[in-house]
Amino acid sequence: MPATIVVGTQWGDEGKGKFTDLLSKEMSMVVRYQGGHNAGHTLVVDGEKFALQLVPSGALYDHIVPVIGNGVVVDPFVLLAEIDMLTRRGVDCSKLRVSGNAHLIMPYHQQLDALYERHLGKAKLGTTKRGIGPAYADKSMRLGIRVQDLLDEMIFRKKLRASLVHTNKVLTKIFNRLPVDPDMLADKVLSECLEPLKPHIADTTDLIHEALEAGQHVLFEGAQATFLDLDHGTYPFVTSSNPTAGGACTGAGVGPRHIDRVLGIAKAYVTRVGAGPFPTELFDEDGDRLVEIGREFGTNTGRRRRPGWFDAVMLRHAVRLNSLTELAITKLDVLDTFETVKVCVAYDINGERTTKLPYHQSDVHAAVPVYEELPGWKTDLTAATERRHLPAEAEAYLQLIEERVGVPVTLASTGPGRSQYLHFSSL
Ligand code: GDP
Ligand code: IMO
Ligand code: MG
Repeated sequence: MPATIVVGTQWGDEGKGKFTDLLSKEMSMVVRYQGGHNAGHTLVVDGEKFALQLVPSGALYDHIVPVIGNGVVVDPFVLLAEIDMLTRRGVDCSKLRVSGNAHLIMPYHQQLDALYERHLGKAKLGTTKRGIGPAYADKSMRLGIRVQDLLDEMIFRKKLRASLVHTNKVLTKIFNRLPVDPDMLADKVLSECLEPLKPHIADTTDLIHEALEAGQHVLFEGAQATFLDLDHGTYPFVTSSNPTAGGACTGAGVGPRHIDRVLGIAKAYVTRVGAGPFPTELFDEDGDRLVEIGREFGTNTGRRRRPGWFDAVMLRHAVRLNSLTELAITKLDVLDTFETVKVCVAYDINGERTTKLPYHQSDVHAAVPVYEELPGWKTDLTAATERRHLPAEAEAYLQLIEERVGVPVTLASTGPGRSQYLHFSSL
């Protein structure tokens, strides 16, 4: 019963979608286990671009059962719009299954997300304003509404009313906004979403176990990334779920003994969207070039991503947090024209050198990267298909990463297209 987790090892947008799509060829089921439509996973297949937010990135293959697990927060309107978009573009979504235990994002969650951000002023987190935090907060407060509640109108209305007693107090008394009418909202959700969503709602934990017991290969697709993890990321500049590999277990309903492979996805450099510490951040021309060549603007929100050099200190920590078995390095081609390339191998914190990510966030803010600088390869890598095609300088760059991070690089990618990748050892 082989199972693989694909997990982001930096601050998101590493290319998880591309590798999930790529690996899906060998899979039977692809499961999203956390996050919501704050994710933007881009696939480029035969020159055609798909930007997915909620539907798992394996969905483009006919043989895949795409699953949205219990750990995901689902905006039913967004999900239906995405299914429509994919169907119009010839992708059959009839096999998509959504966990009845997944929580719903309601329009008031998005309103609250924007209000909390505005309330924070300069201290804002830079969330995607998709309602992710408020929806997970309601889940924790036991005020959430689950996908399965849609199937029983009485329960759905009752839960919405109960939840809005609290939320309407927040909206009216703290933010001076109008209250939400629970019955009007229930009418809208039930009339627009129930029928089209009904065939997709399922006991996904059971489906996943049936697949595993039948010896099928299941892929768990992480959204966001290790350093946006609610527990292990740069809190409070994080998302409200657990993207780290353990999140796949709780967010899908499988135990850790089912997982035999954890593939970490890392960009050949680093980007971050939104606020928060970022030791290797670049504010110079090199940074602008990474953004420009790498087209580092959010798939989802269009925001400019903050650029920086590859950080092996963070990556070593990501290996521990996720039990990474291997790494895929993406966007190697973006470095093609650089004279030199840098890897952060340690931090200097108030005069002391460390190769460990400090637990105290003030130290992360104070960390000055110590770089190892290598000559660039000054070669177009976009057509490379085998490791032996790589120039010696690119090979040295990957070897430095392997050595400093401590796990093998088994895959690398040299362009957004499905076929633009290098496969270094057996998949
Ligand atoms: P995800 O959120 O981790 O799935 O990543 P995103 O899709 O948000 O961002 C990655 C971006 O890089 C997308 O636009 C991909 O099409 C693109 N991409 C992925 N791999 C490569 C690569 O090897 N080279 C280049 N140039 N672009 C890539
Ligand atoms: P994928 O799956 C990059 C960031 C936001 C913000 C923080 C909290 O495409 O890699 P949220 O809306 O989740 O409450 O915002 O997390 N963020 C992402 N950054 N890629 C993502 O997803 C992200 N999802 C959330 O920018 O800093
Ligand atoms: Mg993304």
